[in-house]
Formats: sequence, C-alpha cells, structure tokens
Amino acid sequence: MAGKVFFSVSMSLDGFIAPESSTELMGRQWMELQRWVFPTRFFRENLKLGGGGEEGRDNDIVRETFERTGVSVMGKRMFDAGEQMWPEEAPFHTPVFVVTHEKRDPWERPGGTTFHFVNDGIETALDQARAAAGDRDVRLAGGGATILEYVNAGLVDEFTIALSPVLFGSGIRLFEGVDAGRVALEPVRTEHSPRVTHLTYAVRER
Ligand SMILES: NC(=O)c1ccc[n+]([C@@H]2O[C@H](COP(=O)([O-])OP(=O)(O)OC[C@H]3O[C@@H](n4cnc5c(N)ncnc54)[C@H](OP(=O)(O)O)[C@@H]3O)[C@@H](O)[C@H]2O)c1
Repeated sequence: MAGKVFFSVSMSLDGFIAPESSTELMGRQWMELQRWVFPTRFFRENLKLGGGGEEGRDNDIVRETFERTGVSVMGKRMFDAGEQMWPEEAPFHTPVFVVTHEKRDPWERPGGTTFHFVNDGIETALDQARAAAGDRDVRLAGGGATILEYVNAGLVDEFTIALSPVLFGSGIRLFEGVDAGRVALEPVRTEHSPRVTHLTYAVRER
C-alpha cells in the first residue's frame, strides 16, 4: 500500500518558515523557531550532537516523523544549506530526491542517505520517491518554494505545522502564492507542548 505525501515544518506565528537571510536577527530567529526541536533526545542523537536531550511529546513527534519517512524530497536551496551543515552521516538515512535544474551524480553518504538530483520536475521526483519509499510515507522536507509547488499541484495528503511562539516580521512565507481556490484543509489533530503547538491537517480538493 502506498504511503502518504506529507510535510512537517516549523513556522513563526506570523507565517514564516525561515528568517530574512540578510538581517542581523537571522541566527537568533532561526534558533527561536526551532527551539522546540533542538533539545530533543532524538534530534540530538540523529545529528550526533552527543548524548542526553529531552524526552516527552516533542521528542516523540520528532521520532515519529523520522520513522514514518521512507524517502524525503527537497528543493535545491534547502539541499545547498544542508550540504554545508549536515554531518558526514546525513540525518535522513533513506534516499533523498532533490528537485533542481543542476545536473549532478547521486551523492551517497555513510549511514544510508543517498541524494538523487532530479531535473524533470516535481512529479517525476515524487514518482521516484514513492517507488523508493515502499509502504512508508514521502516527506516533503522543504523548503517553502518546493512545498508550495506540491501543494498547488494537489500532491500533498497531509501536513503538520509546529507553530512557534516567535514573530519574524519578514522572511520566507510558506503559503505565499498558494492556490487558495483549490486547497481545502481538514483539521486532524492539535497538540501542544510547553514550547510549541503542533497543528496537523489533511489536504483536500476544494
Ligand atoms: N522551518 C522549517 O521547518 C524549514 C524546513 C525546511 C526548509 N526551511 C527553509 O527553507 C529555505 C529554503 O527554501 P526555499 O523556498 O528558499 O527553496 P527550496 O524550495 O529549498 O529550493 C528552491 C529551488 O529548488 C529548485 N527547484 C524547485 N522546484 C523546481 C522544479 N520544479 N524544477 C527544477 N528545480 C526546482 C530550484 O533551484 P535550482 O534552479 O538552483 O535548481 C529552486 O530555486 C531555507 O532557508 C530553509 O532553512 C525551513
């Protein structure tokens, strides 16, 4: 049975998933956005940041999101940023399909992550991702532009927003340019921790 296509991102209360890269505030805003995830035990272990870390519902959500993911799909700007930051053992441990105009051979990392560069659009990338994911889900890892393409093409089944208590004022908006005439949302679940509110929706055709 085919899995779902989903995304799971952190968002500021005013709708941004990344701060403006040119502002002095950028580093601090990014930390505030992700404050719920950085201390979790699973995140720390997966990125090899050392032992310890917090347990609890935020940690469970990070782990469950990882475990349901058979394959990730991402845009080239997210890949470029990650290529600088991920440890040698990249934190996906599955195939990853990068939607891009750049032609590049697959890049295999220790620990089971292989990045495949797909040059003929989001649907081809998703077909390849579904085939590789088996009965697990396909995660649209980001960033905003790529997720929005999939939303507007009607190819997303479900998403979760971790709504962080921080205001950016400017930056990358996730839903800027969404085809609102096409997309309807059905609430699935709301959970909150002391740090963040997790909002899950199913996506339907309007
Ligand atoms: N808050 C969160 O949870 C979260 C999660 C993930 C990412 N992010 C943030 O998101 C930001 C990156 O997002 P972004 O919106 O700027 O960019 P993006 O979606 O990562 O990448 C966009 C790029 O991907 C390539 N691309 C996308 N669709 C394509 C298509 N149909 N055909 C060919 N190439 C295609 C193009 O690059 P080329 O033309 O160069 O190939 C395009 O410029 C980063 O700042 C990251 O930190 C936040």
